[in-house]
Amino acid sequence: MSPFLDQTLSNSLSPHAIKKHLRTRWLGQREVCCFDVVESTNTEANRLAREDAPEGTLIVANAQTKGRGRLGRSWASPPGSGLYLSIILRPDCPPNRFPRLTLTAGVAVASAIQQTGVKPQLKWPNDILIADRKVGGILAEAVFDRRRIDFAILGIGINVNTERDELPVSVRSLATSLRISLGKPLSRIYLLQTLLHLLEPWYESFCAGAFETILDAWCEFDNTLGRVVDVFLPERRLVGMAEALEPDGTLLVRDKRGCVHRIIAGDVVHCRLENREP
Ligand code: BTN
Repeated sequence: MSPFLDQTLSNSLSPHAIKKHLRTRWLGQREVCCFDVVESTNTEANRLAREDAPEGTLIVANAQTKGRGRLGRSWASPPGSGLYLSIILRPDCPPNRFPRLTLTAGVAVASAIQQTGVKPQLKWPNDILIADRKVGGILAEAVFDRRRIDFAILGIGINVNTERDELPVSVRSLATSLRISLGKPLSRIYLLQTLLHLLEPWYESFCAGAFETILDAWCEFDNTLGRVVDVFLPERRLVGMAEALEPDGTLLVRDKRGCVHRIIAGDVVHCRLENREP
């Protein structure tokens, strides 16, 4: 039987349960803070990072009351069903490399989900999808210190055992969970351990500047390129074809007049499936 389906594994997220059988070298091996309920694990991580918590500190919650998504959105975090975690990272690199961290984490999350038996896809820059519905998201935040990243918080939310009626009505038609996709509940602990095990080497590649390899892996899961996208930028909106990623992960979108726009950050909505090139 797949260990993801092993119901004898505890569903309670405790430091002991997480560290037991964890196969990482350092990620999640140091400080692990587990909360039953917290406003947001990213907020907790930020607080701990300012108190000098070491790289690899893991913050996990059973539920969040103010789970945050990108662009000021909220992240529904019902108790007991999802994975809500944040990791404190201290990469020694300049601020302009920071957006690559989201893409790096996306590769790890998609790879972990793939091991459960479903086919994940990545929507640029931070969404994890199954059959075009959102199953997870990444919220990377950072504090910069002059010309370096002082610390980064990598927040990851995955709808694991979330039932349809636990998803907010506003996103119900756009979201899914692993349980809905697989038709079976999964072990959150085993998924978390798998994710940490996969994230560790991808993050080390990020730190080593091996972004080409990361981008190649990202493109294996890509669900954005070759689509017509609607990009919501701070002061304007752009519709065009998502053509390619630049070597640093920037999205290139060609508008209908043929002008190519470089999108470093923005909200991307996939327009129509039929526009995807074969
Ligand atoms: C998004 O899709 O916009 C990102 C969602 C990120 C949600 C996770 S859940 C754990 C961590 N704590 C938060 O408040 N947000 C992230």
